[in-house]
Amino acid sequence: MPATVIVGLQWGDEGKGKTTDFLAEQVAMVVRYQGGDNAGHTVVTGDEVFKLHLVPSGVLYRHITSVIGNGVVVNPATLISELDMLAGRGIDVARVRVSRSAHVTMPYHVALDRAMERRLDGAKVGTTGRGIGPTYGDRAWRIGLRMEDLLDEAVLRERIGRALPDKNQLLASLGEAAFELDRLVDLGLGWGQRLRPHLDDTTWLVQDALRRGDHVLLEGAQGTLLDLDHGSYPYVTSSNPVAGGACTGGGIGPLQVDEVMGVMKAYATRVGSGPFPTELLDEIGRGIAARGHEVGTTTGRPRRVGWFDAVPLRYAVAVNSVSSIMLNKIDILSGLDPIRLCVAYDIDGRRVEHWPSSAIELARAQPVFEEFAGWSEPIHGVRSLADLPENARRYVTALEDHAGVPIVLVSVGPERTQTIERAWRPMRHRPAAPLA
Ligand code: GDP
Ligand code: IMO
Ligand code: MG
Repeated sequence: MPATVIVGLQWGDEGKGKTTDFLAEQVAMVVRYQGGDNAGHTVVTGDEVFKLHLVPSGVLYRHITSVIGNGVVVNPATLISELDMLAGRGIDVARVRVSRSAHVTMPYHVALDRAMERRLDGAKVGTTGRGIGPTYGDRAWRIGLRMEDLLDEAVLRERIGRALPDKNQLLASLGEAAFELDRLVDLGLGWGQRLRPHLDDTTWLVQDALRRGDHVLLEGAQGTLLDLDHGSYPYVTSSNPVAGGACTGGGIGPLQVDEVMGVMKAYATRVGSGPFPTELLDEIGRGIAARGHEVGTTTGRPRRVGWFDAVPLRYAVAVNSVSSIMLNKIDILSGLDPIRLCVAYDIDGRRVEHWPSSAIELARAQPVFEEFAGWSEPIHGVRSLADLPENARRYVTALEDHAGVPIVLVSVGPERTQTIERAWRPMRHRPAAPLA
Protein backbone atom coordinates (compact mmCIF):
# COMPACT_ATOMS: atom_id res chain seq x y z
CA MET A 1 0.00 0.00 0.00
CA PRO A 2 2.46 2.67 -1.00
CA ALA A 3 1.49 6.21 -0.01
CA THR A 4 4.00 9.03 -0.30
CA VAL A 5 3.47 12.40 1.32
CA ILE A 6 5.06 15.43 -0.33
CA VAL A 7 5.56 18.19 2.21
CA GLY A 8 7.12 21.66 2.09
CA LEU A 9 9.95 22.03 4.61
CA GLN A 10 10.17 25.83 4.54
CA TRP A 11 7.65 28.70 4.17
CA GLY A 12 5.99 27.38 1.02
CA ASP A 13 6.96 27.81 -2.63
CA GLU A 14 9.74 25.22 -2.31
CA GLY A 15 8.77 23.74 -5.67
CA LYS A 16 6.19 21.18 -4.47
CA GLY A 17 4.42 21.48 -7.83
CA LYS A 18 7.55 20.42 -9.69
CA THR A 19 8.24 17.60 -7.22
CA THR A 20 4.68 16.27 -7.40
CA ASP A 21 4.62 16.41 -11.19
CA PHE A 22 8.00 14.67 -11.34
CA LEU A 23 6.94 11.81 -9.07
CA ALA A 24 3.39 11.61 -10.44
CA GLU A 25 4.49 9.85 -13.60
CA GLN A 26 4.84 6.65 -11.57
CA VAL A 27 1.65 6.84 -9.46
CA ALA A 28 -2.08 6.32 -9.88
CA MET A 29 -3.54 9.06 -7.71
CA VAL A 30 -2.52 12.49 -6.38
CA VAL A 31 -4.39 13.94 -3.40
CA ARG A 32 -4.29 17.53 -2.10
CA TYR A 33 -4.91 17.31 1.63
CA GLN A 34 -5.07 20.87 3.01
CA GLY A 35 -4.98 24.55 2.19
CA GLY A 36 -7.06 26.16 -0.50
CA ASP A 37 -6.52 28.49 -3.40
CA ASN A 38 -3.87 30.31 -1.35
CA ALA A 39 -1.54 27.68 -2.86
CA GLY A 40 0.17 28.33 -6.18
CA HIS A 41 1.97 25.31 -7.59
CA THR A 42 3.86 25.66 -10.84
CA VAL A 43 4.45 22.81 -13.25
CA VAL A 44 6.61 23.30 -16.34
CA THR A 45 6.55 20.76 -19.16
CA GLY A 46 8.41 21.71 -22.31
CA ASP A 47 7.25 25.22 -23.21
CA GLU A 48 4.07 24.96 -21.19
CA VAL A 49 3.68 26.51 -17.74
CA PHE A 50 0.72 25.57 -15.53
CA LYS A 51 -0.06 27.45 -12.33
CA LEU A 52 -2.39 25.40 -10.15
CA HIS A 53 -4.18 26.62 -7.04
CA LEU A 54 -6.58 23.81 -6.17
CA VAL A 55 -6.26 20.97 -8.66
CA PRO A 56 -3.45 18.57 -7.68
CA SER A 57 -0.24 18.82 -9.69
CA GLY A 58 -0.67 15.31 -11.10
CA VAL A 59 -3.54 16.41 -13.34
CA LEU A 60 -1.33 16.80 -16.41
CA TYR A 61 -0.97 13.01 -16.72
CA ARG A 62 -3.89 11.18 -18.30
CA HIS A 63 -3.54 8.12 -16.08
CA ILE A 64 -3.91 9.97 -12.79
CA THR A 65 -6.98 10.44 -10.62
CA SER A 66 -6.65 13.88 -9.03
CA VAL A 67 -8.32 14.20 -5.65
CA ILE A 68 -9.14 17.29 -3.62
CA GLY A 69 -9.43 15.81 -0.16
CA ASN A 70 -11.68 16.62 2.78
CA GLY A 71 -9.01 18.78 4.44
CA VAL A 72 -8.92 21.29 1.59
CA VAL A 73 -11.03 24.45 1.60
CA VAL A 74 -12.49 24.98 -1.84
CA ASN A 75 -13.47 28.25 -3.44
CA PRO A 76 -15.72 26.79 -6.15
CA ALA A 77 -15.27 29.86 -8.39
CA THR A 78 -11.50 29.28 -8.44
CA LEU A 79 -11.92 25.55 -8.97
CA ILE A 80 -14.31 26.03 -11.89
CA SER A 81 -12.03 28.55 -13.59
CA GLU A 82 -9.06 26.23 -13.07
CA LEU A 83 -10.93 23.26 -14.55
CA ASP A 84 -11.93 25.46 -17.52
CA MET A 85 -8.36 26.66 -17.98
CA LEU A 86 -7.04 23.07 -17.97
CA ALA A 87 -9.75 21.80 -20.32
CA GLY A 88 -9.07 24.74 -22.63
CA ARG A 89 -5.44 23.63 -22.79
CA GLY A 90 -6.34 20.09 -23.71
CA ILE A 91 -6.08 18.48 -20.25
CA ASP A 92 -8.71 15.88 -19.38
CA VAL A 93 -10.32 16.99 -16.11
CA ALA A 94 -13.01 14.29 -15.92
CA ARG A 95 -10.90 12.40 -13.35
CA VAL A 96 -10.75 15.29 -10.90
CA ARG A 97 -12.58 14.23 -7.72
CA VAL A 98 -13.59 16.64 -4.96
CA SER A 99 -14.48 15.53 -1.46
CA ARG A 100 -18.13 16.06 -0.58
CA SER A 101 -16.89 17.00 2.90
CA ALA A 102 -14.39 19.66 1.82
CA HIS A 103 -15.40 23.07 3.15
CA VAL A 104 -16.52 25.86 0.86
CA THR A 105 -14.92 29.29 0.82
CA MET A 106 -17.79 31.75 0.37
CA PRO A 107 -17.53 35.36 -0.78
CA TYR A 108 -18.05 36.56 2.81
CA HIS A 109 -14.96 34.59 3.89
CA VAL A 110 -12.88 36.42 1.31
CA ALA A 111 -14.34 39.79 2.32
CA LEU A 112 -13.69 39.07 6.01
CA ASP A 113 -10.11 37.94 5.40
CA ARG A 114 -9.33 41.17 3.54
CA ALA A 115 -11.18 43.45 5.97
CA MET A 116 -9.54 41.87 9.04
CA GLU A 117 -6.12 42.28 7.46
CA ARG A 118 -6.85 45.94 6.76
CA ARG A 119 -7.85 46.44 10.37
CA LEU A 120 -4.68 44.75 11.64
CA ASP A 121 -2.71 47.25 9.59
CA GLY A 122 0.93 47.13 10.84
CA ALA A 123 0.31 43.77 12.58
CA LYS A 124 -1.22 42.09 9.54
CA VAL A 125 -0.42 38.45 8.78
CA GLY A 126 0.03 39.22 5.10
CA THR A 127 -2.50 36.58 4.02
CA THR A 128 -3.18 35.82 0.40
CA GLY A 129 -6.62 37.40 0.85
CA ARG A 130 -8.36 34.19 -0.29
CA GLY A 131 -10.58 33.74 2.75
CA ILE A 132 -8.59 30.80 4.09
CA GLY A 133 -8.59 31.74 7.81
CA PRO A 134 -12.33 32.56 7.97
CA THR A 135 -13.24 29.34 6.10
CA TYR A 136 -11.24 27.11 8.45
CA GLY A 137 -12.55 29.22 11.34
CA ASP A 138 -16.14 28.43 10.41
CA ARG A 139 -15.24 24.77 9.97
CA ALA A 140 -13.87 24.63 13.51
CA TRP A 141 -16.85 26.63 14.74
CA ARG A 142 -19.16 24.12 13.01
CA ILE A 143 -20.97 26.79 11.00
CA GLY A 144 -19.21 26.04 7.72
CA LEU A 145 -20.60 24.84 4.41
CA ARG A 146 -19.43 21.62 2.84
CA MET A 147 -19.30 20.88 -0.86
CA GLU A 148 -22.25 18.49 -0.64
CA ASP A 149 -24.39 21.29 0.82
CA LEU A 150 -24.21 22.95 -2.62
CA LEU A 151 -26.37 20.16 -4.04
CA ASP A 152 -29.50 20.76 -1.99
CA GLU A 153 -31.28 24.12 -2.00
CA ALA A 154 -33.05 23.66 1.34
CA VAL A 155 -29.86 22.61 3.13
CA LEU A 156 -27.85 25.37 1.47
CA ARG A 157 -30.37 28.07 2.41
CA GLU A 158 -30.57 26.83 5.97
CA ARG A 159 -26.79 26.69 6.44
CA ILE A 160 -26.00 30.02 4.85
CA GLY A 161 -28.97 31.58 6.59
CA ARG A 162 -27.66 30.44 9.95
CA ALA A 163 -24.18 31.94 9.45
CA LEU A 164 -24.94 35.07 7.43
CA PRO A 165 -26.45 37.50 9.98
CA ASP A 166 -23.28 37.34 12.13
CA LYS A 167 -21.04 37.65 9.07
CA ASN A 168 -22.91 40.71 7.89
CA GLN A 169 -22.79 42.29 11.33
CA LEU A 170 -19.04 41.80 11.52
CA LEU A 171 -18.58 43.08 7.99
CA ALA A 172 -20.64 46.18 8.82
CA SER A 173 -18.45 46.88 11.85
CA LEU A 174 -15.45 46.73 9.50
CA GLY A 175 -17.09 49.17 7.09
CA GLU A 176 -17.87 46.48 4.49
CA ALA A 177 -21.06 45.83 2.50
CA ALA A 178 -23.47 43.05 3.48
CA PHE A 179 -24.17 39.89 1.44
CA GLU A 180 -27.71 38.87 0.43
CA LEU A 181 -28.95 35.39 1.27
CA ASP A 182 -30.81 34.82 -2.03
CA ARG A 183 -27.82 35.78 -4.15
CA LEU A 184 -25.50 33.51 -2.18
CA VAL A 185 -27.94 30.59 -2.46
CA ASP A 186 -28.19 31.08 -6.25
CA LEU A 187 -24.43 31.29 -6.54
CA GLY A 188 -23.95 28.15 -4.43
CA LEU A 189 -26.54 26.15 -6.37
CA GLY A 190 -24.88 27.13 -9.66
CA TRP A 191 -21.53 25.92 -8.32
CA GLY A 192 -23.14 22.71 -7.09
CA GLN A 193 -24.71 21.99 -10.50
CA ARG A 194 -21.42 22.56 -12.25
CA LEU A 195 -19.28 20.53 -9.82
CA ARG A 196 -21.77 17.70 -9.14
CA PRO A 197 -20.00 15.23 -11.48
CA HIS A 198 -16.74 15.74 -9.60
CA LEU A 199 -18.05 15.32 -6.04
CA ASP A 200 -17.25 12.04 -4.34
CA ASP A 201 -16.54 10.31 -1.07
CA THR A 202 -12.82 10.70 -1.53
CA THR A 203 -11.76 8.84 1.61
CA TRP A 204 -13.05 5.59 0.10
CA LEU A 205 -11.50 6.46 -3.26
CA VAL A 206 -8.11 6.77 -1.58
CA GLN A 207 -8.63 3.72 0.63
CA ASP A 208 -9.71 1.58 -2.34
CA ALA A 209 -6.69 2.72 -4.33
CA LEU A 210 -4.37 1.77 -1.48
CA ARG A 211 -6.11 -1.59 -1.05
CA ARG A 212 -5.57 -2.30 -4.76
CA GLY A 213 -1.88 -1.58 -4.23
CA ASP A 214 -1.93 1.64 -6.26
CA HIS A 215 0.70 4.22 -5.42
CA VAL A 216 -0.89 7.36 -3.99
CA LEU A 217 0.88 10.72 -3.67
CA LEU A 218 -0.38 13.21 -1.10
CA GLU A 219 0.51 16.74 -2.15
CA GLY A 220 0.89 19.31 0.61
CA ALA A 221 0.39 23.00 0.12
CA GLN A 222 2.25 25.78 1.99
CA GLY A 223 5.04 24.47 4.23
CA THR A 224 5.98 23.30 7.71
CA LEU A 225 6.92 26.79 8.89
CA LEU A 226 3.46 28.08 7.94
CA ASP A 227 1.73 25.24 9.82
CA LEU A 228 -0.97 26.37 12.23
CA ASP A 229 0.62 24.34 15.04
CA HIS A 230 4.28 24.27 14.10
CA GLY A 231 4.88 27.62 12.38
CA SER A 232 5.55 31.01 13.96
CA TYR A 233 2.00 31.72 15.13
CA PRO A 234 0.19 34.00 14.31
CA TYR A 235 2.19 34.40 11.08
CA VAL A 236 0.96 31.08 9.72
CA THR A 237 -1.80 29.68 7.58
CA SER A 238 -4.91 28.09 9.09
CA SER A 239 -4.31 24.44 8.21
CA ASN A 240 -1.72 21.71 8.85
CA PRO A 241 0.67 21.40 5.90
CA VAL A 242 2.80 18.93 7.91
CA ALA A 243 2.72 15.26 6.95
CA GLY A 244 0.21 14.53 9.73
CA GLY A 245 -2.23 16.77 7.84
CA ALA A 246 -2.16 14.20 5.03
CA CYS A 247 -3.88 11.76 7.38
CA THR A 248 -6.64 14.05 8.61
CA GLY A 249 -7.12 15.85 5.29
CA GLY A 250 -6.44 13.03 2.83
CA GLY A 251 -8.33 10.19 4.47
CA ILE A 252 -5.47 7.86 5.36
CA GLY A 253 -4.09 6.48 8.61
CA PRO A 254 -0.54 7.13 9.88
CA LEU A 255 0.54 3.54 9.20
CA GLN A 256 -0.54 3.83 5.56
CA VAL A 257 2.20 6.40 4.89
CA ASP A 258 5.42 4.71 3.90
CA GLU A 259 7.41 7.62 2.59
CA VAL A 260 7.53 11.32 3.41
CA MET A 261 9.38 13.35 0.84
CA GLY A 262 10.35 16.79 2.10
CA VAL A 263 10.72 19.52 -0.50
CA MET A 264 13.08 22.43 0.01
CA LYS A 265 14.93 24.91 -2.12
CA ALA A 266 18.57 25.88 -1.88
CA TYR A 267 17.76 29.19 -0.18
CA ALA A 268 14.73 30.48 1.70
CA THR A 269 11.75 32.64 0.79
CA ARG A 270 8.74 33.83 2.70
CA VAL A 271 5.66 35.72 1.54
CA GLY A 272 3.75 37.72 4.13
CA SER A 273 4.76 38.89 7.60
CA GLY A 274 6.58 37.11 10.39
CA PRO A 275 10.08 36.36 11.63
CA PHE A 276 12.65 35.36 9.01
CA PRO A 277 16.09 35.23 10.69
CA THR A 278 18.18 34.77 7.54
CA GLU A 279 16.38 37.41 5.46
CA LEU A 280 18.56 39.30 2.98
CA LEU A 281 17.59 42.92 2.51
CA ASP A 282 20.54 43.72 0.27
CA GLU A 283 21.69 43.34 -3.33
CA ILE A 284 22.41 39.62 -2.82
CA GLY A 285 18.79 39.04 -1.81
CA ARG A 286 17.48 41.12 -4.70
CA GLY A 287 19.71 39.16 -7.08
CA ILE A 288 18.42 35.78 -5.84
CA ALA A 289 14.82 37.05 -6.02
CA ALA A 290 15.33 38.19 -9.61
CA ARG A 291 17.10 35.04 -10.82
CA GLY A 292 14.67 32.78 -8.96
CA HIS A 293 11.58 34.72 -10.16
CA GLU A 294 10.51 34.96 -6.54
CA VAL A 295 7.12 36.52 -7.04
CA GLY A 296 4.00 35.02 -5.42
CA THR A 297 2.14 32.68 -7.79
CA THR A 298 -1.19 33.53 -6.17
CA THR A 299 -0.82 37.17 -5.23
CA GLY A 300 1.97 38.53 -7.43
CA ARG A 301 3.66 39.87 -4.28
CA PRO A 302 7.47 39.87 -4.19
CA ARG A 303 8.73 37.07 -1.96
CA ARG A 304 11.19 37.90 0.84
CA VAL A 305 14.48 36.07 0.27
CA GLY A 306 17.16 34.77 2.65
CA TRP A 307 19.97 32.24 3.06
CA PHE A 308 19.06 28.62 3.75
CA ASP A 309 18.26 28.05 7.42
CA ALA A 310 19.23 24.63 8.79
CA VAL A 311 17.70 25.33 12.21
CA PRO A 312 14.06 24.94 11.10
CA LEU A 313 15.15 22.23 8.62
CA ARG A 314 16.06 19.90 11.50
CA TYR A 315 12.70 20.67 13.11
CA ALA A 316 10.81 20.09 9.87
CA VAL A 317 12.52 16.73 9.31
CA ALA A 318 11.53 15.67 12.83
CA VAL A 319 7.87 16.76 12.90
CA ASN A 320 7.17 15.37 9.42
CA SER A 321 9.25 12.20 9.86
CA VAL A 322 10.82 13.06 6.52
CA SER A 323 12.40 10.01 4.91
CA SER A 324 13.87 11.64 1.79
CA ILE A 325 14.31 15.11 0.36
CA MET A 326 14.05 16.82 -3.01
CA LEU A 327 16.26 19.90 -3.20
CA ASN A 328 15.09 22.47 -5.74
CA LYS A 329 16.52 25.61 -7.34
CA ILE A 330 20.19 24.99 -6.67
CA ASP A 331 20.83 26.49 -10.12
CA ILE A 332 19.80 29.88 -8.75
CA LEU A 333 22.90 29.93 -6.52
CA SER A 334 25.32 29.70 -9.49
CA GLY A 335 27.52 32.79 -9.49
CA LEU A 336 27.18 33.54 -5.77
CA ASP A 337 30.38 33.44 -3.72
CA PRO A 338 30.38 32.82 -0.83
CA ILE A 339 27.14 30.99 -0.12
CA ARG A 340 26.00 31.19 3.47
CA LEU A 341 24.13 28.58 5.47
CA CYS A 342 22.57 29.33 8.86
CA VAL A 343 23.48 26.55 11.31
CA ALA A 344 22.37 28.07 14.63
CA TYR A 345 20.97 31.25 16.19
CA ASP A 346 22.38 33.68 18.66
CA ILE A 347 19.50 34.64 20.95
CA ASP A 348 20.48 37.15 23.67
CA GLY A 349 24.08 35.86 23.61
CA ARG A 350 23.10 32.15 23.74
CA ARG A 351 23.84 29.73 20.90
CA VAL A 352 20.56 28.05 20.02
CA GLU A 353 20.33 25.07 17.68
CA HIS A 354 16.71 24.17 18.32
CA TRP A 355 13.96 25.92 16.34
CA PRO A 356 12.21 28.01 19.01
CA SER A 357 8.46 27.61 19.06
CA SER A 358 8.12 31.13 20.46
CA ALA A 359 7.70 33.79 17.77
CA ILE A 360 8.88 36.35 20.31
CA GLU A 361 12.16 34.50 20.80
CA LEU A 362 12.50 33.94 17.07
CA ALA A 363 12.14 37.64 16.41
CA ARG A 364 15.36 38.19 18.42
CA ALA A 365 17.32 35.37 16.72
CA GLN A 366 20.52 36.39 14.96
CA PRO A 367 21.74 33.84 12.41
CA VAL A 368 25.09 32.09 12.89
CA PHE A 369 26.40 31.33 9.42
CA GLU A 370 28.80 28.85 7.88
CA GLU A 371 30.29 29.89 4.56
CA PHE A 372 30.68 27.77 1.45
CA ALA A 373 32.72 28.58 -1.63
CA GLY A 374 30.44 29.10 -4.62
CA TRP A 375 30.60 28.02 -8.26
CA SER A 376 30.26 30.17 -11.32
CA GLU A 377 29.08 27.87 -14.10
CA PRO A 378 25.39 27.44 -14.98
CA ILE A 379 24.15 23.96 -14.06
CA HIS A 380 20.77 23.75 -15.79
CA GLY A 381 22.04 21.04 -18.10
CA VAL A 382 23.56 18.80 -15.42
CA ARG A 383 21.78 15.42 -15.01
CA SER A 384 24.06 13.56 -12.62
CA LEU A 385 25.40 14.53 -9.26
CA ALA A 386 28.95 13.72 -10.31
CA ASP A 387 28.73 16.41 -12.99
CA LEU A 388 27.80 19.15 -10.54
CA PRO A 389 30.66 21.51 -9.65
CA GLU A 390 32.52 20.22 -6.59
CA ASN A 391 31.46 23.22 -4.48
CA ALA A 392 27.81 22.58 -5.33
CA ARG A 393 28.20 18.98 -4.22
CA ARG A 394 29.77 20.16 -0.94
CA TYR A 395 26.78 22.41 -0.32
CA VAL A 396 24.32 19.59 -1.05
CA THR A 397 26.22 17.30 1.33
CA ALA A 398 26.13 19.95 4.07
CA LEU A 399 22.36 20.32 3.67
CA GLU A 400 21.98 16.55 3.78
CA ASP A 401 24.07 16.32 6.96
CA HIS A 402 21.89 18.90 8.67
CA ALA A 403 18.72 17.15 7.54
CA GLY A 404 19.95 13.69 8.57
CA VAL A 405 18.04 12.11 5.67
CA PRO A 406 19.11 11.55 2.06
CA ILE A 407 18.58 14.16 -0.62
CA VAL A 408 17.45 11.84 -3.40
CA LEU A 409 16.45 14.37 -6.06
CA VAL A 410 18.14 17.63 -6.99
CA SER A 411 16.44 20.06 -9.33
CA VAL A 412 18.47 22.36 -11.56
CA GLY A 413 15.70 24.11 -13.46
CA PRO A 414 11.92 24.46 -13.53
CA GLU A 415 11.32 21.95 -16.31
CA ARG A 416 10.32 18.34 -15.57
CA THR A 417 13.48 16.93 -17.08
CA GLN A 418 15.85 19.34 -15.31
CA THR A 419 16.22 16.89 -12.45
CA ILE A 420 19.12 14.90 -11.05
CA GLU A 421 18.12 11.50 -9.71
CA ARG A 422 20.61 10.18 -7.20
CA ALA A 423 21.02 6.49 -6.62
CA TRP A 424 17.74 5.79 -4.83
CA ARG A 425 18.79 4.97 -1.33
CA PRO A 426 16.52 3.06 1.06
CA MET A 427 13.83 5.34 2.46
CA ARG A 428 14.67 4.81 6.06
CA HIS A 429 14.72 7.55 8.66
CA ARG A 430 18.25 8.23 9.86
CA PRO A 431 18.26 10.24 13.08
CA ALA A 432 19.85 13.67 12.71
CA ALA A 433 23.16 14.38 14.44
CA PRO A 434 22.61 15.07 18.15
CA LEU A 435 22.16 18.72 19.01
CA ALA A 436 24.73 20.47 21.19
P1 GDP B 1 5.28 25.44 -4.78
O1 GDP B 1 4.25 26.38 -4.27
O2 GDP B 1 6.03 24.76 -3.69
O3 GDP B 1 4.75 24.46 -5.79
O4 GDP B 1 6.34 26.34 -5.57
P2 GDP B 1 5.99 27.50 -6.63
O5 GDP B 1 5.53 26.86 -7.88
O6 GDP B 1 5.13 28.53 -6.00
O7 GDP B 1 7.41 28.17 -6.80
C1 GDP B 1 8.51 27.47 -7.28
C2 GDP B 1 8.98 28.15 -8.58
O8 GDP B 1 10.27 27.70 -8.89
C3 GDP B 1 8.12 27.81 -9.77
O9 GDP B 1 8.11 28.91 -10.64
C4 GDP B 1 8.87 26.63 -10.40
O10 GDP B 1 8.65 26.52 -11.81
C5 GDP B 1 10.29 27.03 -10.13
N1 GDP B 1 11.24 25.91 -9.95
C6 GDP B 1 11.05 24.71 -9.36
N2 GDP B 1 12.21 24.01 -9.31
C7 GDP B 1 13.14 24.80 -9.88
C8 GDP B 1 14.54 24.68 -10.08
O11 GDP B 1 15.18 23.69 -9.72
N3 GDP B 1 15.18 25.72 -10.68
C9 GDP B 1 14.54 26.84 -11.09
N4 GDP B 1 15.24 27.80 -11.67
N5 GDP B 1 13.21 27.00 -10.90
C10 GDP B 1 12.53 26.01 -10.29
P1 IMO C 1 2.22 27.23 -1.73
O1 IMO C 1 1.35 26.00 -1.62
C1 IMO C 1 3.82 30.71 0.35
C2 IMO C 1 1.29 32.50 3.43
C3 IMO C 1 0.76 33.92 3.22
C4 IMO C 1 0.73 34.41 4.66
C5 IMO C 1 0.27 33.16 5.43
C6 IMO C 1 -1.22 33.12 5.71
O2 IMO C 1 2.25 27.83 -3.07
O3 IMO C 1 3.56 26.97 -1.15
P2 IMO C 1 -3.32 32.57 4.16
O4 IMO C 1 -3.83 33.22 2.93
O5 IMO C 1 -2.97 31.13 4.01
O6 IMO C 1 -4.21 32.82 5.36
O7 IMO C 1 -1.94 33.35 4.50
O8 IMO C 1 0.63 32.06 4.62
N1 IMO C 1 0.97 31.55 2.36
C7 IMO C 1 1.88 31.07 1.48
N2 IMO C 1 3.18 31.40 1.30
N3 IMO C 1 3.27 29.74 -0.40
C8 IMO C 1 1.98 29.38 -0.21
O9 IMO C 1 1.42 28.30 -0.82
C9 IMO C 1 1.20 30.09 0.74
N4 IMO C 1 -0.08 30.03 1.15
C10 IMO C 1 -0.20 30.91 2.15
O10 IMO C 1 1.65 34.66 2.43
O11 IMO C 1 2.04 34.70 5.11
MG1 MG D 1 3.66 28.35 -4.47
